Amino acid sequence: MWKRVSILVKVFERRNSVITWVDNKPILVVKYGDNYYGMLAICAHMGCALLTDTNGYVATCPAHLAKYDVRTGEMIEKPQVRPDVKCEYADVKAPLPTYKVRVTQDGFLEIDV
Ligand code: FES
Repeated sequence: MWKRVSILVKVFERRNSVITWVDNKPILVVKYGDNYYGMLAICAHMGCALLTDTNGYVATCPAHLAKYDVRTGEMIEKPQVRPDVKCEYADVKAPLPTYKVRVTQDGFLEIDV
């Protein structure tokens, strides 16, 4: 179901990503090329919040630097944890949920959640 969020597409003139909340879920919205992508903004490693610090289509978790492809939700680089310390979450590699994003005629974003 498409849900309108109160973000004007104009914000992407100054940045390539924003975080919005839809149905109590934080969603990272990224503009890459001419397309918009939405991905759950909760890291699959230990649940830290992903920030709007994206590089192209790659979102990096600020906690342990896991990297995600926002187009697919796939973790493309594992978390960086000390090799000498066993991390029970180190092998987590679930794609994060992704969401279609579109722009309304009056310039707002809509997300299919
Ligand atoms: S919580 Fe995101 S990389 Fe560890």
